[in-house]
Amino acid sequence: MFKNTSILIVEPGQTADNSVFAFLKEQTKARILQAKEPAEALDILNKNNGIQILLTDFFPTDKTGLQLIQKSVGKNPSLVPIVCLPFGDRRHIAESFQAGAFFHVGKPVEQQEILEVLKNAVEYQKLLHQSLNRTASLRRSDGFAGIIGESRPMKNLFQTIDSITSHEHGNVLMVGESGTGKELVAKAIHNMTPERSRYNFVPVNCAAIPEDLLESELFGYEKGAFTGANRFKKGRLQHADKGSLFLDEIGDMKPGLQSKLLRVLQEQVFEPIGSVKSIQIDIRVIAATNCDLDAAVKNGTFREDLYYRLSVVPINLPPLRERLDDIPHLINKFLLMYNRGRQNAILDFTPQALQRLKAYDWPGNVRELQNLIQRLCILHGGNRVDVEALPEKFKENNELKAEPARDQAETTENESLDFHDLTVDFENRLILQALSRTDWNKKEAAKLLNMKRTTLLEKIKKRNLDQNYTA
Ligand SMILES: Nc1ncnc2c1ncn2[C@@H]1O[C@H](COP(=O)(O)OP(=O)(O)O)[C@@H](O)[C@H]1O
Ligand SMILES: [Mg+2]
Repeated sequence: MFKNTSILIVEPGQTADNSVFAFLKEQTKARILQAKEPAEALDILNKNNGIQILLTDFFPTDKTGLQLIQKSVGKNPSLVPIVCLPFGDRRHIAESFQAGAFFHVGKPVEQQEILEVLKNAVEYQKLLHQSLNRTASLRRSDGFAGIIGESRPMKNLFQTIDSITSHEHGNVLMVGESGTGKELVAKAIHNMTPERSRYNFVPVNCAAIPEDLLESELFGYEKGAFTGANRFKKGRLQHADKGSLFLDEIGDMKPGLQSKLLRVLQEQVFEPIGSVKSIQIDIRVIAATNCDLDAAVKNGTFREDLYYRLSVVPINLPPLRERLDDIPHLINKFLLMYNRGRQNAILDFTPQALQRLKAYDWPGNVRELQNLIQRLCILHGGNRVDVEALPEKFKENNELKAEPARDQAETTENESLDFHDLTVDFENRLILQALSRTDWNKKEAAKLLNMKRTTLLEKIKKRNLDQNYTA
């Protein structure tokens, strides 16, 4: 009995025939260590971190037994302390449970009783150990290079990343809605490619930079290449040499630049603007887009040859609504991230709240979820998040899903076609979308909407669009 179990027994001087140590030593196959008092026990615990069970007297005069319990679980959270106290000494039993004891055996110790309690403690210790290991490994690995996902599509993605990163060459084209983790995956690919990770990961957002500026950003220029070029500028292509170039929103690149980029990809060589000297580079291009590049190729706005050059390895990043089971894992990651150092931290969500989150369709994908958790961590007071703490949209959405038939019938019959209401509703959705895409950066959102910042702020305020976030 109790093979492979390590038990530390702390009992003040006992005669051989009432010693728990002597009894267990004789009756079990456990590895048993013995201390006469708590200080000695701590010494032993410091030297042996394999001890699973601590069986200690309470030491009522100075309560050092209590401190021992506290310290031992502090050191090793999967250790299970058992305290020996006379039955009926309720106050001390409660105190020792508060200190971290899991079980209590009555004094004087009954041999049969101690064996029963030990059996339970050993079972419990195993469970505790397993679950702590699981959490520890979750924290340690932090997903796959920081990418969280247990769902089938994410596991497939990890495999693809594995095979991409075992070669230093090969361009990657990633397609996915905004907020699905395209940039995160691009960085992971860079960091996990041993030949490249020592060099630069250079991101370029093709949608955010105007066309002519994008060319000089990528290629760089010689002094005097054009008016205003008063010194040499190294292009991002060159910065990315031996590393990776991340071309975000590649679908927005204009045809002229597309053909220049194509040549770079074909020949791994380019000339800065205004220069005749060719520069040789060795880059992996990781391109990303949230638009349908296939369609762009068909209607002629995206070069087919460039498309094939880029998509040596195509990756489809699934939207969050297609992998709802990943939501709890993502929440855990973001809670760890935003709870750090906070008192009154959020520990979890009630099953009902989780269910609402799973019923939502997440147009802003993981970014939207991340924003939600961040805001809850700042604004929410308690440890558990329940439905009422969630923004309105989660409540509405869930009701729709709960009774789809009736709701739909009603809306089609009585649907209002009030022009003003519908336009305001549409505008609101656009604004929320822009806000979610820009991480609620209102200046950026206004830019995206091509709207004056003050107008946007006014609309947000008037329509209470961020009521759930700033309340
Ligand atoms: N699978 C994931 N695991 C952990 N964090 C993620 C995941 N996907 C996205 N994120 C986080 O969500 C945010 C948006 O991701 P990002 O890579 O910028 O998306 P995209 O480029 O597709 O718009 C980032 O903060 C990113 O770290
Ligand atoms: Mg992005």
